[in-house]
Order: sequence, then C-alpha cells, then structure tokens
Amino acid sequence: MPDATLKNVPGMATAKPVPVLEARSLSERAFKDEYVAHSRPCLIKGAVAHWPATHKWRERDYLKRICGAEQVPFWPHENHVTKKRIAPGVTNMRYADAIARLQEGRDEIGAIGCNPGTAGMWPDIAGFSFFTEGELGFSYPPFRFFIFRNAGSTWHYHAVDETLMCQVVGSKRVGLLPVDNPHYRTLCRIFLEEEDYYDDPHAFDALAGEALPWHSAELEAGDALYIPPLWWHGVVVTSDGIGVTTPVVWRSPPHVIADGLKKMAAGDFDMCGLFNIDQFRQLLEAARKIGMERELAMAWKQGVAAQQVSLIDHSGRRVADKPTWPPI
Ligand SMILES: [Fe+2]
Repeated sequence: MPDATLKNVPGMATAKPVPVLEARSLSERAFKDEYVAHSRPCLIKGAVAHWPATHKWRERDYLKRICGAEQVPFWPHENHVTKKRIAPGVTNMRYADAIARLQEGRDEIGAIGCNPGTAGMWPDIAGFSFFTEGELGFSYPPFRFFIFRNAGSTWHYHAVDETLMCQVVGSKRVGLLPVDNPHYRTLCRIFLEEEDYYDDPHAFDALAGEALPWHSAELEAGDALYIPPLWWHGVVVTSDGIGVTTPVVWRSPPHVIADGLKKMAAGDFDMCGLFNIDQFRQLLEAARKIGMERELAMAWKQGVAAQQVSLIDHSGRRVADKPTWPPI
C-alpha cells in the first residue's frame, strides 16, 4: 500500500507519539480543557467502538445497500491536495457501485470522495462519551465519510475547526506537525504546491535536517484521533481491504479562533480551504462577536492572495477569488 506520504518525510522516523487516552476513562472536561483548549492532539482508544458501523459495515452487501444510488466521485488514487494529482481518473458513479468496485479490489488504490453519507448510513453512527456538546463548524458538515482501499491523505492542515478523525473500519498511521514553526513557507511549497515529496524524498533537503516537532499516531478500528486546527497532518493506510474513516468536525472555542485569526492576520501562516457562502457568513459573524473582524479580513485577503482560500456557492463554483473585503 502507498506510504509515500509518511515514508518520505525524514522527521517521521523520530516522530513523537501523541498522548494515548482511553475513551472509557476520559471526561468531557478533561478532553476540552487539556486538549481542545490548547490545540494538543491526542489519540482516544475505543472512542467509536460502540458505533454500530464498526461491525455492521464490514458486511459487504449491507454496506452496498445502505449507500444506495446517490452519485459519488470515485478516485483511483489517494486523497491528494494538488489538482494535478487529484483530478486524473476521477469518475462519478452510484455509491453502491463505487463500494462494489472497492470491494472487488480491481484498483490497487481507490477511494470515494469524502461525502456526508446517506440516510441509510446515519443510524449506524453514534456520538462520543467524552464529547457531547459542540457548535457547528465553519468548514465542513459535522459528519463525513471517507471509504477507501489503500488510500490515505497527503499532508494538509485546516485553518479553522476541530476534528475527530474516527476510524470506523481498518487502520491508519497519521503524521502531525504544528503549522506554527519556522519552516512554514518551505513546508507549504513542499506539501501544498507540488506535493513533490510524494515521489522525491529529496524535497525535504530544503529543511537542512532541522528538527521540528513531528508527531505520530496509530489508529485501529474504533479509535479516534483529535486533530486541532493549524496542525499539518498526513495519513497512510495500514490495513488491507476496504476501510472507512469518519471525520467529525465542530467549531473551535472562541480563544482558539481568535488566536488563529491573529496569527493568520500577522502573516505567520495562511488561511486555507473552501468556504461556502453560509459557512463564511457564520465565520464572519463569529469573528465580529469576538472583535476579530479586522483580523479575519487581513487573514482572508492574504489567504486569497496566496491562492489557498476560496469562497464557493452551493454548487461548488468559485464566487470570489479576489482579495476584497467583505467577499460577499
Ligand atoms: Fe484533514
């Protein structure tokens, strides 16, 4: 299975494992105060082991049946960040057919583009014992599904929002690194512009062997990895057969939003991602509430200038890609 995403990153050889916690002994207070409030990643064993999906979705016909006839994009490759690597070979097909194609194993690598799932899938998902209250995020819906065979995700980060990466079926290894480090621009070029490290490990020569705080986590089925905003993460699959990952996303606490906006406004790192109009309005409203509209405006303009952030309409078309404020 492909491992270029982590194998070619020299820092992964000495990466420090993130703290490992047990869901059954983790309180909501401890999760929020010790990890979310400080944007510290952690691995939570057994976080989603009670979800019916963790056992029901291993059954081939059942999974096909609940996915149904909705159209989804099928990728014959990993989840890349650059257009030149993500676009080739993508075809739209019925969800159930895409599942069947992954199950058959015709493609050595394959994935169904991350999507909010179908009504047949939702009853098999449940909540968390250690996290019961969170506001809607700005960037993604609360639950999405990434179904794959040998397909991980290349390095990227989320400018806003908190994520619990829930491993429903199969296992993965994740590399992590805070965006807030002296090599941000170099890493953006390596990770986001060309993804040249994917084929060429020498891409990291530009770091001149400098030690950075690389971290790692090993997820088994039933575990969840807490990924804070503004942390680079790259993911490889460590299990055979079909796998399912469910990213669960919610809004960061106000002080985390404010801190991120201040640093993005100062140019420490770029705002990134696609925001639809409704999400952007929510973000603007939240920034106003905490007195950060000026910072959001600066962060937005810089992110657009760096071609890292875009505003899209409900059909996914770009509606604003000039650094004007407000963009809507
Ligand atoms: Fe991610």
